[in-house]
Amino acid sequence: MMNRYSKNIVFGVLALCLMVVPMSAAKKQSKSEVAIQKKVEATLAKLTLEEKMDLLGEYKGGFSTYPIPRLGIPEMKMADASMGVRNYGKSTQYPASVVVASTWSRRMMAAMATSLAIDCKARGVDILLGPGVNIMRSPVCGRNFEYFSEDPYLSAQMAVPFIKGLQQNGVAAVVKHFALNNMEWGRKRIDSRADERTCHEIYFPAFRAAVEDADVAAVMDSYNLVNGFYATENSWLNNKVLRDMWGFKGVVMSDWGATHSTGRAMRGGLDFDIDGKNQAKYFNRDSLKTVLSNEGITLKMIDEKVRHILGMIYRFESDKDSAAEHEPTENKNNSAVAQKVAEEGIVLLKNQGSLLPIPNAKSVMVVGPFANQIPRGGGSSKVTPFHSTSITGGLKVVMKNIDIKGHRIYDEEPCTHLYRDRGGRTPGLKAEYFNNSNLGGMPLMSDYVDGLNFYWGNGTPHPDFLGTDNFSIRYTGYLRVPASGEYTLVLSSDDASRMWIDDAMVLDNWGDHSFRGSELTINLQANRDYAIRVDYTESEGEAGIRLGYRIAQVDNLATDAALCDAVIVTAGFGEKAEKEGSDRPWELPADQVKMIKDAATSNANVVVVLFTGGAVDVSSWANDVRAIIWAGYPGQGGGQALANIITGKVNPSGKLTATWAKQWEDYASSDNYYEKSGENFLNYEEGLLVGYRSFDKEEIQPAYPFGFGMSYTRFAYSNLKVKRNDRQCQVKVDVTNVGKVAGAEVVQVYVEPAEVPESDPIRTLRGFEKVNLKPGEKRTVTMMLDANAFSTYNVSKKAFVLNPGDYKIKVGASSRDIRQTFPIKVGRPARPATASN
Ligand code: BGC
Repeated sequence: MMNRYSKNIVFGVLALCLMVVPMSAAKKQSKSEVAIQKKVEATLAKLTLEEKMDLLGEYKGGFSTYPIPRLGIPEMKMADASMGVRNYGKSTQYPASVVVASTWSRRMMAAMATSLAIDCKARGVDILLGPGVNIMRSPVCGRNFEYFSEDPYLSAQMAVPFIKGLQQNGVAAVVKHFALNNMEWGRKRIDSRADERTCHEIYFPAFRAAVEDADVAAVMDSYNLVNGFYATENSWLNNKVLRDMWGFKGVVMSDWGATHSTGRAMRGGLDFDIDGKNQAKYFNRDSLKTVLSNEGITLKMIDEKVRHILGMIYRFESDKDSAAEHEPTENKNNSAVAQKVAEEGIVLLKNQGSLLPIPNAKSVMVVGPFANQIPRGGGSSKVTPFHSTSITGGLKVVMKNIDIKGHRIYDEEPCTHLYRDRGGRTPGLKAEYFNNSNLGGMPLMSDYVDGLNFYWGNGTPHPDFLGTDNFSIRYTGYLRVPASGEYTLVLSSDDASRMWIDDAMVLDNWGDHSFRGSELTINLQANRDYAIRVDYTESEGEAGIRLGYRIAQVDNLATDAALCDAVIVTAGFGEKAEKEGSDRPWELPADQVKMIKDAATSNANVVVVLFTGGAVDVSSWANDVRAIIWAGYPGQGGGQALANIITGKVNPSGKLTATWAKQWEDYASSDNYYEKSGENFLNYEEGLLVGYRSFDKEEIQPAYPFGFGMSYTRFAYSNLKVKRNDRQCQVKVDVTNVGKVAGAEVVQVYVEPAEVPESDPIRTLRGFEKVNLKPGEKRTVTMMLDANAFSTYNVSKKAFVLNPGDYKIKVGASSRDIRQTFPIKVGRPARPATASN
């Protein structure tokens, strides 16, 4: 809609800009960069060839660079990842990246990264293996919760403050997984194929911003192939795009075990090989010497890679660090940051008849698998906090005078009734370890474990003698339950496991696979000893085993729910179903859908709280409930944040960073998300039309659009003005809080060209700002769009090219809630176009 300020303006200064937008400006080196370079050269001159080769490979199981003490070169310690520090015991558990991005707050992202850096320093960690910036091409990707968005601009805007927050506080960041690693299914073998323009406009911008705007220390190459070549051997990715186009000066490292060759990877631009074992598999003295003379690998090439690694060590002053390994203790300030981020990132999706907030209920019931625990996604991002608050725990803090009925239903719990001996005197199981993957020969050693609930990542329970692959374990003992009844035993593992009860094999997960389980429902008698044996084998990659059980459900949900003022149903996936290494379903588990429906039948005030990495099917139950909150994986303070939102202590302000479809088929990627039978490649056929770009183009109504999120107040938009400012485009709009409570709005700017080619999106996000407003308060929000807002990637020029013409600047509260429109004209450049790199 035109407002009184709307008029066509010629985008004068942009017209003065070059038609071709340079991909990277050659930056002048700072004094400290020159000093680092000198130091690098001095060390390089003192290194022997063997030492140089050592520096190109991992040290001690992968999470360190190689130290050379005689020259004072330290080991730089690494840790996963974006949600907290993983590999050094307990640490602050922040919300998952998708939740942080849902704050749409660069300030929040920077605050969290600063806290993360403090956690790293307290544990002597020099390199944090994040952020993950892969685009959410489909909601079922098992690692979406570790990423930011389906939109490249938003992903880039979130990546930059994350990296700066870490690096300005002395911790090197690693942007990952480069590139086109948009699914977990088959991630180690799939060839992801996308055209060059799609790569530059959708899948690369966050990486590019990490390099050009945040000067990221390292880039991690992904497992998959990209357009025919493993990422770790892909010269186009690592040499052409990363270094030549974007001017990357840091380290290109492999994901754990993502390297497949020495010569090809050396030539393909890889600097640092990590296998996650005890020695780099391909970049080590023996293999490098073999290729040095006969595969076109030169000493110059080795020197250049060593420069990158030494450059990182000296830039982050790891050689000066005392690298003290402090005893990790809880950092209260960081815990507060973790909760604040969750409060800003959680998204209110539905609130019929303003059911929420519920400040004065007399009785509330909380049900479902996450009523009494805060879930997290699984895999290498898993962080164990010092403490966490569940939603029930959080409600107890803020709803002091009410009756909270916490029901744990449909819940799988670690099996605790395991004993070493008959009679149930000593808890635990005997474990016997074999250094082969078939439990062959005599065990190397044995010990006792408390229960079966292990995830070793790429590691092993005993790195000293088992190695990290090809090992097996036999667990034996007794199962003895305190109450007779029907139990469902759940055994899952990565790779194989089998279980026997009283010598009969009852569960079988044999074969090499990622975490997968099977169940057995069985009548167990109280205080009887059932002899159990579990065989576990691991051949390659990640490892873990879990034995859980759940009492086959008989609950009085319906009767209890009818007596309460409101029922909060927790649902979602958690680390067993949503994790690295595999993808997750589009639908919630059937028993959870049943639980939601059962609750809604008995109580009119049902609030569903979803713990998922992103969009999930809500079609069969959303109409039955009055409120829906998406919590993602909100970290250790997530339960308190949710309680504060439910009771109105905090006004929700998170907005979705990806589209929630009504049905899976509505995603443009759904036809070609999985490879066709017999093929090992995947064509990204939807091209640029990822996420809201395709929903808008195909005019498909989503369940909840990109950028959507509700508040307990309302915001009015007025007075949109767009004008030029130097090389940028300035967008100003007035936003007023017209409701009764304070709140925050995320103002979003979409750019829509008048003429759109068939393969192009109708409009794209190019700016946003989050603003806090008291009731009645009005503020002018200013946003600057950069030159890329009006350009597209030109394959023949190998650069972004400005597209002159008519545009509409659309400002709104979501991609589907545009409140103000302003037409502009972007003029032709005054000077002729000059080619850039
Ligand atoms: C993951 C990486 C992670 C690495 C180390 C790999 O399996 O893909 O994201 O940083 O393991 O844990």
